[in-house]
Amino acid sequence: MRILIISPVDPAAVARLRERHDVVCAYNADAATLRAAIVDRDAVILRSGVKLDAAAMALAPDLRLVVRAGSGTDNIDLDHLAARRIALVRVPEPGAQAVAELTFALMLALARGVRTADAALRQGHWAKYEIEGRLISGKVLGVVGAGNIGRRVGQIGAALGMRPLGCVEHPTPEATAALERAGMALAPFDRVVAEADFLTLHVPLTPSTRYIVGSDVLARMKPGSYLVNMARGGVVDEAALHAALVRGDRLRGAALDVHEHEGEGRRSPLADLPNVVLTPHIGASTVDTQRQIGERVVEIVEQHAGALPVAVPA
Ligand code: MLT
Repeated sequence: MRILIISPVDPAAVARLRERHDVVCAYNADAATLRAAIVDRDAVILRSGVKLDAAAMALAPDLRLVVRAGSGTDNIDLDHLAARRIALVRVPEPGAQAVAELTFALMLALARGVRTADAALRQGHWAKYEIEGRLISGKVLGVVGAGNIGRRVGQIGAALGMRPLGCVEHPTPEATAALERAGMALAPFDRVVAEADFLTLHVPLTPSTRYIVGSDVLARMKPGSYLVNMARGGVVDEAALHAALVRGDRLRGAALDVHEHEGEGRRSPLADLPNVVLTPHIGASTVDTQRQIGERVVEIVEQHAGALPVAVPA
């Protein structure tokens, strides 16, 4: 197969693909580079942070496979894929645990003032009696989007003594039962927002979730609560979040792994606030996770190249 890889994936997977295929890597390609590189390709492999739009794909008449080495599809023109019957295969499973674990890294960093303590100590300041830590145990963990990732977040929260309360867009009896088994109660979105001490977001970016957390929702959050966005930039109105954090009447702090404007050289106004923790969309970025995703990517390509049987879903 003639493959174009436009996001850094596990180098071992790239090496394995090169053994049997013609592989071109154009990581984080801008629109012009992508359009030049895609023309003769059969397959594209990508993560988040790059856009695979219709204009680029239209230049690739042989394109028949897109592999999303992760979960979200908000950076891919799905209508174009459907119209041309180009296969899209996602690899959502390995990243779920990594995102869930980072959720707690950020939540605990907020609750214990890790960023402030670390910054002070680097300046030689011993802030032992200034850092106001709080327990997460015993607190309500609001999970917006209690799906593949959100359910794990609820499970870990329950194991840490939190009280997980989740919501999903379309609750089914099966989903409700699975959440209950994970130790999570289901409630409507408004109740989750109002009761959460820690509100964490795990929804895909779609028209119905864009700016789901805006000024009205922020105004209904519990005084002293924290917000964690692990979903997508665009799910939170960051200007409204900035205003809410400056006012300080509801939110005590926020952590964001995903941002409205991502990429090298972007600096969010939220970076000026002391009660904010920011990471550069690294939810799925563990060596272990990327190794697993890479292995799966190789399998998917081999299946579509005809070297391996395509698994028929049960
Ligand atoms: C995902 O959707 O899987 C994550 O955003 C990780 C990524 O692909 O960068």
